[in-house]
Amino acid sequence: MISEKDFIASNYSNIESANFECTAPSNIALVKYWGKKENQIPANPSISFTLNNCKTITKVAFLKKDSEKEFSFDLLFEGKPKEDFKPKIQKFLERIAIYCPYLKEYHLTIDTQNTFPHSSGIASSASGMAALSMNIMCLEKEINPNLSEDLFYKKASFLARLGSGSACRSIKGQVVAWGKNESIAESSDLFGVEFNAIHQNFKSYQDTILLVDKGEKQVSSTVGHDLMFSHPYAEKRFEQAHDNLAKITKILAEGNTEEFIKIVESEALTLHAMMMTSMPYFILMKPNTLEIINKIWKFRSKNNIPVCFTLDAGANVHVLYPENTKEKVIQFIKDELVVYCQNGQYICDEIGKGSQLIMNN
Ligand code: DP6
Repeated sequence: MISEKDFIASNYSNIESANFECTAPSNIALVKYWGKKENQIPANPSISFTLNNCKTITKVAFLKKDSEKEFSFDLLFEGKPKEDFKPKIQKFLERIAIYCPYLKEYHLTIDTQNTFPHSSGIASSASGMAALSMNIMCLEKEINPNLSEDLFYKKASFLARLGSGSACRSIKGQVVAWGKNESIAESSDLFGVEFNAIHQNFKSYQDTILLVDKGEKQVSSTVGHDLMFSHPYAEKRFEQAHDNLAKITKILAEGNTEEFIKIVESEALTLHAMMMTSMPYFILMKPNTLEIINKIWKFRSKNNIPVCFTLDAGANVHVLYPENTKEKVIQFIKDELVVYCQNGQYICDEIGKGSQLIMNN
């Protein structure tokens, strides 16, 4: 079994400079990661659909420097220096330092942008950390050409996880599971693994993200995860996530959209229920979130179309549905749901394949 030690780079050469550009998508969890142990080890396993259109595009220029004592980097967001993002990157680099000892030998110029609007309420930490990790692994591959493709992707996911837990699910695969569980033999707490046994019904699933509240998140995920430490229902919830993961992997393989809906909606509501029943307690939904959920339920029973919702730790609603129902569901969204979105904004996305290297010179 692969362990943390296998991710410590030791055999590598020197190069003067290297430039890469990688993209990584966001993802939407079906079974939610909520609660963690030390060193970004999840309290329970999770599984997500990888998105396609909501992504981060990150260029990194690595330039050899004289001193190897400290990290040195510049951070540009949409081409302009962005000081407030720097502490998070500094912390990330420090966390991964023992696995990527070569990083301190370079000055990094990180230039990043998202395809989705900034502060849309869509978390950019998953796609952002995944895109940065991919760039770092591209450098590692350059200085250690013996690195296998398998280890490349596992380590990219491992590094991304240390930046933000859910980011490890944005590296490779349409459906990715993270966290040791009995249903997926190769699953690990250290990195995300691709779940391949997906039925045709789920292969081109659609996700339309309704932007109900574009403001800053009321509670950061980090604070939310911490609240699970002293949570009265924590143990039961972690058990339930294991059960739901076992159920959903079977559902994804067999193509049962009705059963899919039950797990996915229950997971979303459970995540919010955890926040409502923690101390301190929070309500992350907005009135419009509830209006949308009720409209989806009505539309689903009236039209017999397997459309459902999920939520992340905020008020926005992800509407999930099979591609062959797209026309009808988009019409429904335009007719009945757009009124509940801030400035009528929504984003059409669908299941995607993961991160990509788009430039190497
Ligand atoms: C509700 O991955 O953002 O989206 O590890 O502290 O960075 P950190 O948390 P993060 O948590 C995501 C929580 C979630 C559910 C999920 O994506 O599984």
